[in-house]
Amino acid sequence: VNQLASIRSMRALAQEWRARNLTVALVPTMGALHEGHFSLMRKAGAMADRVVVSIFVNGLQFGPKEDFARYPRNLAQDLAACRKRGVAAVFTPTERSMYAPDHSTYVVEENMSRSLCGPSRPGHFRGVATIVLKLFHIVEPHIAVFGQKDVQQAAVVRRMIRDLNCPVRLVVAPTVREADGLALSSRNAGLSVRERALAPRLWRALQMASSLGRARPCASGAVEKKMRAVIEGDDGAVAVEYIGIVDRRTLQPCSVVRRGVLVAVAAKLGQVRLIDNVVV
Ligand code: PAF
Repeated sequence: VNQLASIRSMRALAQEWRARNLTVALVPTMGALHEGHFSLMRKAGAMADRVVVSIFVNGLQFGPKEDFARYPRNLAQDLAACRKRGVAAVFTPTERSMYAPDHSTYVVEENMSRSLCGPSRPGHFRGVATIVLKLFHIVEPHIAVFGQKDVQQAAVVRRMIRDLNCPVRLVVAPTVREADGLALSSRNAGLSVRERALAPRLWRALQMASSLGRARPCASGAVEKKMRAVIEGDDGAVAVEYIGIVDRRTLQPCSVVRRGVLVAVAAKLGQVRLIDNVVV
């Protein structure tokens, strides 16, 4: 697989493709690739002539107490996985090349970033929007593929694309799950055996909310209470950070769970923070 570590070589290749009228799809990642990423790559490959996967653990989107240092990194395995899946180029920039020591320009989205993960992860979406815009400038993709698991991230990027006139089409691919419902995430690797066994509670609670809301509109407060009971149980091993019942376009709170509403959760199992969501 064509691994490009410099911005200059990535840009040159992307521009060569553009000159040949080839369409380009970007799958931005932080590596530790799994089936969720592979499904994004398949989607990208079905929609464009060339697929670029970027692998960059973006320090800017991690808070000082978050898992940047612990975030899994296995480049050799990731490159082999990309090769197997027909990826045309893997962009692996260095920290130094992406951020000058005195870099001071950021992309700040001020609406979609505020709810759900916003309060507990100050600066996170600023880091995401900034790196994604930089990747758009370097790769100049026609299409960018993101996962539904990170639904708020996709909403922030969609808003940035609109507000800053990025000539990129955003595509969101469905969440890929383990057989027991746990959403695939690079962070799942950090779960202990016991935590891994408890992790599917998030999906179970989301499914419960979804079936309640499908049957008849239900007051959000009551649904949230039931979800909390499912996730936290009585062992205290899983701590809910938030349960968000929101409009799926605006991410603003909804007082009623009904069809089309987005239900999102974040919870901590030991050191590991997991998120998941469902559209009723
Ligand atoms: O979803 C991710 O892996 C990251 O947030 C992204 C989009 C690659 C930006 O660093």
